Amino acid sequence: MTAPAPYVRKAFHLKGPVQSASLVITALGLYEAEINGQRVGDQVFAPGWTDYLKRVPYQRHDVAAVLRQGENAIGAILGDGWYCGNLAWKGRQIYGDRPMLLAKLEIVYENGERAVIVTDSTWKTSTGPILESDLIMGEAYDARLELGPWSEPGYNDFAWQPVCEMADPGIALVTTPAPPVRRIEEIAPVSVSPAHVFDLGQNFCGRVRVTVRAKRGSTLVIRHAEVLNPNGTPYTENLREARATDYYTCGGGEAETWEPRFTFHGFRYVEVVGLEPEESVEITGIVLHSDTKPTGVFACSHPLLNQLQHNIVWGQKSNFLEVPTDCPQRNERLGWTGDAQVFIRTACFNMDVRGFFHKWLEVMRDCQHPNGGVPSVIPDKNFLGWWGSDDGGPAWSDAAIICPWTIYLCYGDRTILEEHYEAMRRYMDFMARERCKGFIRSHPEGDAWGGYGDWLALDGSGVLEGATPKDLIGTAFYAYDAAIMSKTAKVLGFEKESQEYEVLHGKIVEAFRRRFVTPEGLVASGTQTSYVLGLNFGLIPEDARPTAVAELVRNIEKRGCHIGTGFVGTPYILDVLEANGHLDLAYKLLEQETFPSWLFPVKNGATTIWERWDGWTPDKGFQDKGMNSFNHYAYGAVGAWMYRSVAGLDVDPEEPGYRHIIFRPRPGGSIGWAEARLNTPLGEAAIRWDITDEALAVQLTVPAAAHATFLPPAGYVGDELTFGPGDHRIALPRV
Ligand code: BGC
Repeated sequence: MTAPAPYVRKAFHLKGPVQSASLVITALGLYEAEINGQRVGDQVFAPGWTDYLKRVPYQRHDVAAVLRQGENAIGAILGDGWYCGNLAWKGRQIYGDRPMLLAKLEIVYENGERAVIVTDSTWKTSTGPILESDLIMGEAYDARLELGPWSEPGYNDFAWQPVCEMADPGIALVTTPAPPVRRIEEIAPVSVSPAHVFDLGQNFCGRVRVTVRAKRGSTLVIRHAEVLNPNGTPYTENLREARATDYYTCGGGEAETWEPRFTFHGFRYVEVVGLEPEESVEITGIVLHSDTKPTGVFACSHPLLNQLQHNIVWGQKSNFLEVPTDCPQRNERLGWTGDAQVFIRTACFNMDVRGFFHKWLEVMRDCQHPNGGVPSVIPDKNFLGWWGSDDGGPAWSDAAIICPWTIYLCYGDRTILEEHYEAMRRYMDFMARERCKGFIRSHPEGDAWGGYGDWLALDGSGVLEGATPKDLIGTAFYAYDAAIMSKTAKVLGFEKESQEYEVLHGKIVEAFRRRFVTPEGLVASGTQTSYVLGLNFGLIPEDARPTAVAELVRNIEKRGCHIGTGFVGTPYILDVLEANGHLDLAYKLLEQETFPSWLFPVKNGATTIWERWDGWTPDKGFQDKGMNSFNHYAYGAVGAWMYRSVAGLDVDPEEPGYRHIIFRPRPGGSIGWAEARLNTPLGEAAIRWDITDEALAVQLTVPAAAHATFLPPAGYVGDELTFGPGDHRIALPRV
């Protein structure tokens, strides 16, 4: 059981007409405020999720229109949320034991006089119809206990209790750069089974609104699931301890409509039980996520790749909720740093995630360990209770370097580097001081925790024989970090530090070569990821690259042209193949339909990206229920390659924010046309290419104040071309 949601209210008198009024409000926990019977604002899960030990955002609303001369009332419903509800698998009351509200209503009368209403001991409280409310477990609502017009003046709150006035917890109140979570769209079911299992046709994050006609006291049990068992019942084992169930007890009478307030689920299917045969229920899916506006479109002639793009976008929608989460359904939903860095480049194409990441990186700074280490999950309150709490390990904590740099590149946003540089430096110092031996990170002889390895790779995640070694991953990312640091310092005008990081980078590269690369170009362990990291991060000497490339190709072909990388190698594998003369193989991997591949889930009806390549296979069925989400965006990192190389729209790091657009289409595979459109900070940039009988026909759009370079693909006659703003058409004859 979780706790009933408290309602709080205060009635007040305004002695004259109001000129302006603003409500400044926040909570530890969640709140929904009302004034005179009207909801204030449209944010879901206000005030959002931050490191509540350090700061909490407040919201400001202009509420003059709902106030009136005479009697008024203000109130709020409080939810446990992340503050005191269940968090991942750690139980309840992680930050505090109960929700608290803080509000100030400032009124200016038309005659210039002022009045202020604040949350104090004059407010009253009662419980009401919300018997339980928990982000992970669900919500239980008993309409028989509704309170009536509780936020309106004249309401009889005689039976309500005085609130408990709490001491100021001393947490900084701040504004947030992040867009709020909102109800973004509605989804109608595509079918319903005789057993009342509704199929919404799309796996997503949110909840359902029900409209029910049933007798007073009937309780609907509303269960959510991502997939079905073979017999058509909801498969919920992979939710682990997340109950993901809402209960609605009917008040009786005409149709009743209800939607929970303080919970969300990750699901496609909804089972509703508890109705008598003559009773009826309709449901509508309500999609919730941080209101990051769509910016990008990718499409091509290959329907399965278009579905893959759709799945990537829905993985993003489902997991960009206050923080970039790993998954929205099981009892986890944490801001895993590794997942975020793997996916951020793709995310920046699909939506405007700049404010979202500004906020998340602010939380990261709040959670950075005093020693400079960056935890596995952000926000963190020592959730994990192991090394991961002060050091997320290779490819996870490196989000501290990769994410701000990516936001800078994609939005030309220098402020994110300014804000984060100190944290980046502290993180680099931490690694040098505490995590490296002879520039090898996670050196097995140290006591360092080696991280999660190449998480969920088919050849193991770093603890198994044959898996990509954790110190190899660690050192590769350390080198990558040093390279980014050198560039970052340069952008910020810290020339000396830029050079120091460049020197550091050189030393790490040398150490990497000494330890992991043979003179001929074999890379330790021989996994796809070991070659991908070595080649992508420039860690293999020039003359040894051909061997390394050949080994990577051999590994892929040995698997019948299948991918074997985990979270760590996946984002770069196609770039590496393309950059090293194997575009054809990159396309074979991208278009591969058999297991393991990106299109295997698509062929099997996926509407989001699965956590693992083998989440479900025909011969084995569902994977281990303890770790099998069907809505994890990490492998969706391939999206960036579809924009950048299939369609051919990229940013020039020298002129970030798409001031200089690189059009670099690399047609291949079975694809006959492709297009990408991106709403850049300067306006819409677009490319579309079509293969005709005799040429490659290309249309380009360059926004005002930008310029572009077109780099022709192999196989067509054409020179490098430059373009100014406007629409352009070119045709490149076949060679
Ligand atoms: C999460 C991942 C995360 C991983 C760390 C899992 O439980 O779902 O996405 O990155 O742990 O290894």
